[in-house]
Amino acid sequence: MKMRRPFIAANWKMNKTLSETREFIANFIPVVRDVSDIDIAIAPPFTLLRAAAEALKGTNILLSAQNVFYEEKGAYTGEISPLMVCDAGCKYVIIGHSERRQYFNETDLIVNRKIKAAKKAGLGVILCIGESLEEREAGKTFDVLLKQIEEGLNGVDLENLIIAYEPIWAIGTGKTATSEQAQEAHAYIRERLKILYGNRADESCIIYGGSVTPDNIDSLMACSDVDGALVGGASLKVDSFCRIVKFKKEK
Ligand code: PGA
Repeated sequence: MKMRRPFIAANWKMNKTLSETREFIANFIPVVRDVSDIDIAIAPPFTLLRAAAEALKGTNILLSAQNVFYEEKGAYTGEISPLMVCDAGCKYVIIGHSERRQYFNETDLIVNRKIKAAKKAGLGVILCIGESLEEREAGKTFDVLLKQIEEGLNGVDLENLIIAYEPIWAIGTGKTATSEQAQEAHAYIRERLKILYGNRADESCIIYGGSVTPDNIDSLMACSDVDGALVGGASLKVDSFCRIVKFKKEK
């Protein structure tokens, strides 16, 4: 049995309207009411956070944002601060998702500033790291992960911090990492965290993301260093996300 409490999060990305959000949550709550031994989070787009917070009131489902800016307030047109995200009812924020690194030029330095600002505001952080296909094929997976860990977490403690290993080649492609590939990367991440933080790393939640589905969740969760999942596509439908949240526990 793993000591760490599983954490499963839905990353809705740029999907869903207000009515779709209300409908999803209304249907989701009753089916997961009996799930008490894992943490569940939903990360809708910014515009839906307040309504989602209302709809989730009285449940133990956590609300997460998908991004924040690193300043508290000011003349940053179009940006959202950690304080605003807290104010909207969020307990977590996803930082450094590969889509933000790729399309919005987020560097490890920016990711680091965002993590610090989010933690200062009291938010839990889901830090995404992961290699591209090219990097994997060139044998650079561990180097890439190491840089993202060391630079992203520079000056940051592990309190309330979840790491999501998301190999870019597995995101939205239907190509999940095999359990062996996931376990290998997660074990490496934990080993590096141990070097940086000592035994505290044994308590760190390291979750997997990249084409997680009802069909592969059980075998991923059976890996000793996989503590949960960050789910994109398969989190948009109540049925599939419920099955993922209700993954079959190891004996
Ligand atoms: P996916 O996305 O499950 O659709 O591959 C995961 C993610 O990007 O967090």
